[in-house]
Amino acid sequence: MIDLKDQIDLSKLPRHVAVIMDGNGRWAAQQGKERVFGHQNGVTSVRETAEAAAELGIEYLTLYAFSTENWNRPADEVEALMSLLVTTIHNEMDTLTKNNIRLNAIGDLNSLKPKTLAELQSAIDQTKHHSRMVMTLALSYSSRWEITHAMQCIARKVKNGEIAVENIDNQTISNHLATAGMPDPELLIRTSGEYRISNYLLWQIAYAELHFTTTLWPDFRRQNFYEALIDFQHRERRFGKTSQQIKTELSKT
Ligand code: IPE
Ligand code: IPE
Ligand code: MG
Repeated sequence: MIDLKDQIDLSKLPRHVAVIMDGNGRWAAQQGKERVFGHQNGVTSVRETAEAAAELGIEYLTLYAFSTENWNRPADEVEALMSLLVTTIHNEMDTLTKNNIRLNAIGDLNSLKPKTLAELQSAIDQTKHHSRMVMTLALSYSSRWEITHAMQCIARKVKNGEIAVENIDNQTISNHLATAGMPDPELLIRTSGEYRISNYLLWQIAYAELHFTTTLWPDFRRQNFYEALIDFQHRERRFGKTSQQIKTELSKT
């Protein structure tokens, strides 16, 4: 079997990859099972993706695990997702340690149940010295929630005289988002053949390359991740310039 890993140029890796893990429910339905069976099987995909990313040398992996809008799902599914989160964090501590991965979370975490939040916080604390990769779970997260929150914070600082209105720039806004301190994702992957962003990292993905695959999340494996990276490496990232300018710049380096 060809290993797609060999086709990856390690000198041109994205520093930050974001993933919208979608299609668990449909995967379960295909096997005549309940939706939660799909969520349970998605855990293997998270482990494979995290290990593959850490081994390659990707610094930040940010996974959309539960959106603000997902609270509107049937109560039993929400409950099942939250308990799966607790058991998974608990069971995967070894994986995080073995791979030197630091766990992080972004989102409206105070809306989680105290038990869920405590388990999450304990795993974050236990992995805080791990240095190979930061794996961020977006939980009870939505970009509009995050931006609204950032705006409130900036407005408060303006009111207190800590920030002058005319000094608010791109960086000020980035610094007040939940992802403050992280580089913007250069690559965003969405599985399951849905071609939308669903309120994810809207500010941060301004110039990300988007990779869509019809693979359902529970079927996503290392090779699918490598495929996304190869696709990314074939893109010409122009940032508003012309293709000619980019080629000239590249020939000088
Ligand atoms: C993604 O799979 C997981 C979450 C959103 C929590 P879905 O549960 O959205 O699966 P589909 O899209 O219904 O197949
Ligand atoms: C987005 O998936 C959220 C997560 C992957 C956690 P959804 O399945 O909830 O997205 P929509 O609602 O179909 O856009
Ligand atoms: Mg979905």
